[in-house]
Amino acid sequence: MSLIRVHDKNFEPYLTAEQIDTAIQNLANQINRDYAGKKPLFIAILNGSFMFASDIFKKLTIDAEICFIKLASYRGTKSTGHVITAIGLDIDLIHRHVIIIEDIVDTGKTLDQFLPQLQYQQPASLKICALLHKPEATVHPIPIDYLGFKIPNKFVVGYGLDYDGLGRNIPEIYKLAE
Ligand code: IMP
Ligand code: MG
Repeated sequence: MSLIRVHDKNFEPYLTAEQIDTAIQNLANQINRDYAGKKPLFIAILNGSFMFASDIFKKLTIDAEICFIKLASYRGTKSTGHVITAIGLDIDLIHRHVIIIEDIVDTGKTLDQFLPQLQYQQPASLKICALLHKPEATVHPIPIDYLGFKIPNKFVVGYGLDYDGLGRNIPEIYKLAE
């Protein structure tokens, strides 16, 4: 087993490019079935999901649109937590079938704060498609409608996911070595 080094840490192979591709094909097959004739709008959350979004979008055979947003969190002067706002969401969601594309759902905090902002725009439907989910890390339960892999509560890099900016270009997924 070959370790790789990113910054100061060692990572070991976890999911191969082939496993990832197969999982994404399965997700695309489900979406192709579920959204035929509905012209869904995919909202991919940058940066981490750029590779996943690109690969799943190529496997869609139905009419579909995609847009990319970044989420910014601010600490309010009086509020206790972060408020998350979308940068670049310039499409009306009303009456649209929306599918969020996320690289990984960890504690669920990001989506827990962000989903109400989307619901507020009254989409016809709103579903989540995530490549990875760490169930053991859940703080805010998020219903994931289309999921690639459940993974243990270990830090992972590769396939768009970074460790402090690096590792996104690795075609496989590696996890922090023991
Ligand atoms: P959450 O709000 O805790 O669910 O975190 C979601 C975001 O944290 C993801 O979209 C990722 O950008 C980042 N993240 C969570 N776990 C990992 C990991 O293991 N590797 C790299 N990024 C991660
Ligand atoms: Mg992310």
